Parts: sequence; C-alpha cells; structure tokens
Amino acid sequence: KETVVSGIRSTGKLHLGNYYGALSNFVKMQDEFNCFFFIADLHSLTTHPTPGDLSRTVREVVVEYLAAGIDPEKSTIYVQSDVPEVAELYLYMNMNAYLGELERATAFKDKVRANPDNVNAGLLTYPVLMACDILLHHGTKVPVGKDQEQHLEMTRTFGNRFNRLYNVDYFKEAFAFSYSDKLVKIPGLDGNGKMGKSNGDASCVYLSDSPDAIRKKVMRAVSDSGPTEMNQAKPEAVQNLFDLMKVVSSPDTLAHFDDLYNNCTIRYGDLKKQLAEDMIRATEPVRSRINEIADDDEYVKKVIQLGAEKAGESARKTIREVRNIIGIRKLF
Ligand code: TYM
Repeated sequence: KETVVSGIRSTGKLHLGNYYGALSNFVKMQDEFNCFFFIADLHSLTTHPTPGDLSRTVREVVVEYLAAGIDPEKSTIYVQSDVPEVAELYLYMNMNAYLGELERATAFKDKVRANPDNVNAGLLTYPVLMACDILLHHGTKVPVGKDQEQHLEMTRTFGNRFNRLYNVDYFKEAFAFSYSDKLVKIPGLDGNGKMGKSNGDASCVYLSDSPDAIRKKVMRAVSDSGPTEMNQAKPEAVQNLFDLMKVVSSPDTLAHFDDLYNNCTIRYGDLKKQLAEDMIRATEPVRSRINEIADDDEYVKKVIQLGAEKAGESARKTIREVRNIIGIRKLF
C-alpha cells in the first residue's frame, strides 16, 4: 500500500477550500492507502497565535477531521507537535535547503507582501518543515489543494538532494494528489482569489457555519450588475460563484444558471439562493456531527493519543535511519 501524508494548519475553523481541496480526499483515500493525517500546529506558529488559541484550534481541527469521516481505526490522526522527531528531521533538512529557492517560493512571496513586518525564518523555511512531515513517513501521495503544488515540488527537491548528497536511495518522491484530474482551487465569496482565512471571514464558508450564516454570507457575495450581451465572458466574481456551484450543485442546476447567464436573463439573487441551499446540503453531514464529537472529550483524547503512538513509531524509525545515514552515531 502506498503511504499518504497530509495536514491542515490549526489556524481556526475549516472552510470549504480545506474541505474540497484536502479533507474530502482524506476521507476517500483511507480505504485504499496507509494514511497519516495530522494537524500542523507547528506550522501555525509563524503567525504567533496565543497559547489559548493554539490549543483550542488544534482540538477544533481534530474534531472536524473526525466529523468529516476520517476513521482513527483506518488512518493515523495525530498532532504534529506530538511527534517531535519532525523537528529533528527539519534541522537536518535545513542544511540542504538554499536561501534562493526558499525566497522564490510563491507562498512565501505572497506572505511577505501581505505581512512585511513578520518575515520570520520559520516562514522562510515553512516548505522544509512541510517536506519533513511527508518524508518522515515516506509518503508518496499528498492530498492538497492547488496552492500547495509548489511545496510538493520542493519536497521532491529536498528529498532527492539528500539522496544525492549521501549517495543513498532513501527518500521517495511525493506528489500532490486529487481524485479530480486537476488540483482543486475553491474561490472565495469576496470576488477574487481563493477561499482563505487571510481574505477575511466574509470570503469563507466554514464547515461549522449554521445554515442561516451560510445564507447570509452567500447572499452578500460579490457579483456584478449582470450580463448585457449574449454569451458574454464572466467576470471573475461571477465565475467564482459558478465555480462554487460546480462543486456543490448538480450538473443540471449549473447548466440551468449558465443558460440564464448566456441569455442575459439571470437574476443573481436566485443563483445565490440556490448556491446557499446546495452548500448547506453538502456540508450537513459534517456540521451535524461536529458538536456531538466536540462534546466527547474522552474519545477525542483517545484518538490523539493513539495517533501520537502510531505516528511516533514510524517517525522514530526514520530518525534512526537518517542519523545513521548522516553519520550521527553513538560513540559511547
Ligand atoms: P493550510 O492549512 O493552509 O491548508 C490546508 C489544506 O487546504 C487546502 N486549501 C484549499 N484548497 C482548495 N481551495 C482553497 N481555497 C483552499 N484553501 C486551503 C490546502 O491546499 C491544503 O491542502 N502547508 C499546508 C499544511 C501542511 C501540509 C504538510 C500539507 C503542512 N505540512 C504536509 C501536506 C503535507 C497548508 O497549506 O495548510
């Protein structure tokens, strides 16, 4: 069985981007592969969360993993910081990651632009830690959204460079994975870019949002004043609404509104109402389980503990082997 590794940062509640880009694939992959799914709490430290926020959000993500249908009997669910071996591997791999390539990473450049006052070294070496998450368990398939594709390329670069440096065939190449033929990019409701917490709450539909909250957000989504010519190209904000519809609505519904758009008879209010109801329906199974699981403290703890043990075992084996390859051997 191939090994699957993926994680989501603990920066708050999960949104439809996280769900369709990552989590929904996690659930489908667990029957077929040997899966490790973790909560990337160390990665979330780049933005300096308060200790209280950090531990609360880690637990929230565990609960949402379980609510989405990740089964701890099939997959290993763990918290990144519960397996500190990853930090040791990160130190080793940092010796083979170069300033130039790290500075050129798109996600890094975006973050520098968005937040020029917090360009810390952890942000720069974020892709190295991410590579280590994957290499630690010898993962080959990594279910992620489109925005992570470059990080996977860097993971292969670091792994291959290690192999060459030590003349070993140790780390395997990992590739971004999605069940659809392309990696997913879910747009936000704010008219541009992707759905993401950094674009504000109004751009995101969260899995834990109530049906009413979803209706309100979708009705306020950015659109325009409507097409004026038949078969006119859609501006980005409108295309985004159609792209969201492609994900949560039926092909017939999508075709229906596409026809209305092309005939210039579309009313965006109707499209938004339909989109909101379809989002509510699509997220209902997850939403309905979140509170129930969140209340079961014993269960959540058991899952995290079991995951830490299973992931720890795999990590300790890798660290033993890596130390030996590098030449860090006990002299006493
Ligand atoms: P994070 O928390 O930013 O995102 C978690 C996952 O959600 C996907 N995603 C999206 N997919 C489609 N459309 C969107 N609008 C959207 N927004 C978010 C991301 O692509 C990602 O799959 N660096 C990772 C966390 C990580 C990781 C790893 C992943 C750390 N180590 C090792 C895989 C393997 C990240 O982007 O987290």
